[in-house]
Amino acid sequence: MAQDLMEKIVSLCKRRGLIFQSSDIYGGLSNTWDYGPYGVELKNNVKRAWWQSNVYERNDMFGMDAAILMHPKVWEASGHVENFFDLKSDCKNCKKRFKAADLKDKLVCPECKGELTEARPFNLMFKTHQGPVADDASLIYLRPETAQGIFVNFSNLLDSRHPKLPFGMAQIGKAFRNEITPGNFTFRTREFEQMEIEYFVKPADADKYYEYWVELRHNWYLGLGLKKENLRKRPHAKDELAHYARACTDIEYNFPIGWSELEGIANRADFDLKQHAQFSGKDLQYFDDAAKERFFPFIIEPSGGVDRAVLAFLTDAYHEEKVKKDTRVVLKLHKDLAPVKAAVFPLLKNRPEIVELAKKIAADLKKSFVTTYDDTGAIGKLYRRQDEVGTLYCVTIDVQSLEDKQVTVRDRDTMLQERIGIDKLKDYLLGKLKGCS
Ligand code: GAP
Repeated sequence: MAQDLMEKIVSLCKRRGLIFQSSDIYGGLSNTWDYGPYGVELKNNVKRAWWQSNVYERNDMFGMDAAILMHPKVWEASGHVENFFDLKSDCKNCKKRFKAADLKDKLVCPECKGELTEARPFNLMFKTHQGPVADDASLIYLRPETAQGIFVNFSNLLDSRHPKLPFGMAQIGKAFRNEITPGNFTFRTREFEQMEIEYFVKPADADKYYEYWVELRHNWYLGLGLKKENLRKRPHAKDELAHYARACTDIEYNFPIGWSELEGIANRADFDLKQHAQFSGKDLQYFDDAAKERFFPFIIEPSGGVDRAVLAFLTDAYHEEKVKKDTRVVLKLHKDLAPVKAAVFPLLKNRPEIVELAKKIAADLKKSFVTTYDDTGAIGKLYRRQDEVGTLYCVTIDVQSLEDKQVTVRDRDTMLQERIGIDKLKDYLLGKLKGCS
């Protein structure tokens, strides 16, 4: 059933222009995905909603956008050069590569029973070279997390904005990991996007703010429509904590592959600022004016994946409903996330006056919210297409519209239809979309 659901989502994403296999015409680059016209809207809406609640609606948060390429010493200081690897074995026969942890005690290849090499450490960072000469001196990495771009800008923020604790820095951007076992559609890929907050607090307040962020992030997903029963919090056991973390709680979603991490909230203590202070030789302490003391703040880090969030929202929104003898597939996405807010159709494509009026109405709505115009099929087909990408309202212009200056507006979820005057249409829809970020 679950596998079936994943297949249905992958197929819907391709069919309706949400997500495509990368480099498809060349046979595809495995585990790499491109977001199409509706997919990019959905993804942007997820990022916008995150930025809205974590940056714009707060007084203690600063946005930023660091470069993907960073000084190689960053990754020594962060511990990624030393700690960010998986042990792997290769099959000498079929050449497939396996994570040692996945092999457990197996001595032969799980696929072809061939002989396995000894497990060797394999760093997950993508390497490249800066400049034309590919030697050791020009070696740099594609960042495996966006977080480090924030830590190395900590003193820039103190000097330019003079914030007082507690405060945070928020960033959305690409990260790259040479994952050994990517897969499950966009769940685990080698190129992905993260939404990360580094929230700086007094050490004594760290536990309080850790709990606070776990709740806040959990509720953010609920607020955007994920079903309560599909979301849970899972505190990490001591032996599964990352090298920098004192505590971590995963927000898990019940994906078609089972309960898996959607976002992690970690207490990174003063690990990162201390490390960067040591490796850079710069003073990265915070000066508390009132107490007249200098110290390294502790960091609480809510770190989520954009692609995983999109996959969770798609999974949760996917519905199949019986409508008379047919099955209607509909994405019941939250109104903030729906890629398209309204679609406009002329009922009769061979009547130029109707087509012209429909295009005029669409052009006007487009100035206020994402609207699509479509005249490439019969009305039933057009409704079905829009339901499948979660379009909130469909507006149909018919012969009668030319006389009574009214159009039919159909609601995605209830499928109820209403006649609305053309002069009132935009306000009517804006009223329905009120509060959309
Ligand atoms: N700075 C902390 C950090 O990067 P992480 O748990 O490794 O922590 C945070 O990653 C989030 O990034 C995960 O919860 C997940 O949503 C997303 N993520 C991590 N690796 C991913 C991958 N290979 N593909 C897609 N998303 C990934």
